[in-house]
Amino acid sequence: MLTRIIQIIIGIAGLTALTLGLLFWIAGIDLLNIHMLFGLIVALTLLVMSIIAASTRGMRVWGIIGIIYALIVPVFGVTQSGILIGDLHWLIRTLHLLVGIGAMALAGSMGARYATLKRARATSAEPQTVR
Ligand code: HEM
Repeated sequence: MLTRIIQIIIGIAGLTALTLGLLFWIAGIDLLNIHMLFGLIVALTLLVMSIIAASTRGMRVWGIIGIIYALIVPVFGVTQSGILIGDLHWLIRTLHLLVGIGAMALAGSMGARYATLKRARATSAEPQTVR
């Protein structure tokens, strides 16, 4: 249930951050403060999902990768405007876009794997009926 809620939050926050980021990039509409707030929500919900994964047997590696990723998202977000300024800055912008989408995808696949694991364990723990 909690992981489902996390997936919904990260989906809404991620799409909002993505839309505001693209509005800034394409149309020059500067709503970056709100963008960063939603970006931070993405990073924090990914962190919560990763901590759940890190404390679940069979998902620990995913959890550790997620925790590191959740730290990279805001650090890169805040510093990116000063990296590779000039003609090649679009590379950094594209990378930031992909890192953001990657955070959403990572949380999504962790949530799906978590649900599968829990379902499998619940099924194997069910008492067998003797006919
Ligand atoms: C804490 C997290 C985040 C922070 C601090 C952050 C920060 C920023 C900043 C400062 C800019 C303007 C950069 C410039 O002046 O060139 C920007 C742009 C942008 N962001 Fe984010 N962002 C975050 C998360 C995200 C996420 C999760 C997504 C996508 C799902 C995203 C997508 C974009 C896009 C498409 C742009 C426009 C292209 C660019 O300038 O890179 N951001 N972000």
